[in-house]
Amino acid sequence: MKSYGFLGAGHMNQAIIKALLETQTLQPQQIWVSNRSPGKLDRLVEQTGVHKVSQNEELLGACEIIVLGLKPQDLSQAIEPISSSFEPQHVVVSLAAGVSLASLKKLIPNVTQFVRVMPNAAVSIRHSVVGCAVAGEAPWLKSLTQQLFSPLGQVIFVEEGEPFEALTVACSSGVGFVYELMEYWQDWLLDHDFSPAEARQMTVETFLGAALLAVDKSRTSLEELQNKVVSKKGETAAGLDSIRECEIERLLRISFEKAVMRDRELGQLD
Ligand SMILES: NC(=O)c1ccc[n+]([C@@H]2O[C@H](COP(=O)([O-])OP(=O)(O)OC[C@H]3O[C@@H](n4cnc5c(N)ncnc54)[C@H](OP(=O)(O)O)[C@@H]3O)[C@@H](O)[C@H]2O)c1
Repeated sequence: MKSYGFLGAGHMNQAIIKALLETQTLQPQQIWVSNRSPGKLDRLVEQTGVHKVSQNEELLGACEIIVLGLKPQDLSQAIEPISSSFEPQHVVVSLAAGVSLASLKKLIPNVTQFVRVMPNAAVSIRHSVVGCAVAGEAPWLKSLTQQLFSPLGQVIFVEEGEPFEALTVACSSGVGFVYELMEYWQDWLLDHDFSPAEARQMTVETFLGAALLAVDKSRTSLEELQNKVVSKKGETAAGLDSIRECEIERLLRISFEKAVMRDRELGQLD
């Protein structure tokens, strides 16, 4: 039975730990967790029964798989003091946004097995897209990654570089972008005398309904689904013509590119 060490007890690592326990993928006794400040770690231990360690280094002695649930700006500070204690058999899984597999290898030279992961905020309801880039071709490393992250949603293996950046922006930052669009819908309804509660509910149901229809008709392209709700010269067609004239797609692509540039900046370790 392998043991899993979670360095950091923040949002992501907590969501992963809870999903792994709720799906009985892992048992509490297989999980060790450390965190910089004690409060949230103590609460997690109380809620789940996982092991707590007070020093990050203790995770390395206890566990084969180490999950780094850290912000990129905290990564070097957390890892450099313990880097030489990693051993070749460790597998390192990193959630640090923007930090490449090559940078991880530079930070932890003793290890050869790395996985870089990009989830999104929907991990807590297990509907995340989970992008994973794996160093090397070892099939067991991919199976381990699949086992660890499929309880959180849809695991997508992707090459590093542009595909990983595109997934990060579309699927992780993308949740924030979709909320921005939802706010536009909500504001329109508020401007037309719906109460805040009604405007929120109507917006959420519209986005949810569109997404669930696409799930239900998984063999139908999004374009065909859209065509089904557009009648020639109707009001939807008029609105869509205007959206296209305003080149909303071009504007959104500029925003996506800006987010990619920021992702690259964040990944530069000191
Ligand atoms: N949240 C999301 O929706 C999301 C989505 C996609 C990707 N990500 C990525 O996932 C990573 C983690 O994000 P998060 O939202 O989980 O961040 P978070 O909630 O801030 O968690 C980070 C945790 O790391 C702990 N930490 C920092 N330095 C440490 C050290 N030296 N030793 C031990 N623990 C240390 C922090 O402890 P303290 O309690 O002292 O602060 C904190 O609990 C980030 O790289 C983020 O970009 C997050």
